[in-house]
Amino acid sequence: MVVQISPSILSADFARLADEAKAVEEAADWLHVDVMDNHFVPNLTLGLPVVQALLKHAALPVDCHLMIEDPDRYAPAYAEAGAGNVTIHAEAAKAPVRTLRAIRAAGARSGLALNPGTAIQPYEDLLVEVDMVLLMTVEPGFGGQKFLDLVLPKIRRTRAMLAARNAGRPPVGHGEQGREIWLQVDGGVSDETIERCAEAGADVFVAGSAVYGAQDPARAVRDLREQAELATARAAWSTAVSPGA
Ligand code: DX5
Ligand code: ZN
Repeated sequence: MVVQISPSILSADFARLADEAKAVEEAADWLHVDVMDNHFVPNLTLGLPVVQALLKHAALPVDCHLMIEDPDRYAPAYAEAGAGNVTIHAEAAKAPVRTLRAIRAAGARSGLALNPGTAIQPYEDLLVEVDMVLLMTVEPGFGGQKFLDLVLPKIRRTRAMLAARNAGRPPVGHGEQGREIWLQVDGGVSDETIERCAEAGADVFVAGSAVYGAQDPARAVRDLREQAELATARAAWSTAVSPGA
């Protein structure tokens, strides 16, 4: 299982996005971009034009987290623009199968996000359309909130579901034909909480304030990765799946 770190530019300086992307370029795996519409969440950030501009300047693949109403209408355009991953919220999508397929058809990985109070079980059959499950570990909308430990049991349950599906699959490939499904956590991930997340089963870690609030963002990414890798190595879920993984 490979640990990946996705710094969230929500905590970066929005007037210097290209520089802020560059600051983590050597250390991170993705650049997490939070799109908020002031309806699905009580905050407004940026949309497609800014993502398109960022794609021209960012060397890292862009991980778009859409916290918007009507993702069925708006999500495919982010994939068409060149985002490497596009995540929609289960609570907002009315036609998730169609939308997740459209994201994949445009060449991106498809992500399905669940708020802290949304259970994973009703979405089990939908996982064939999904390349990454995002479990929110805060209520979405703002950076710098406190990590919600109540999500940890859901991370464990989701990892158990994914372990069965991922057995024997390479980390690359296409959807049902073999691509591994990742488990991302987002919200309050820091040097105090990342070990708990990794131990419970997360493998992709979004961190906003823990990275961009640090003196040296690249170093913060490396430190978080090291902690997550150590915690993953001693986690029961990781040692149990490793022979087939
Ligand atoms: C919150 C966003 C997060 C946010 C996380 O709704 O989805 O990506 O940037 O910020 P931190 O890591 O500071 O909790
Ligand atoms: Zn996010």
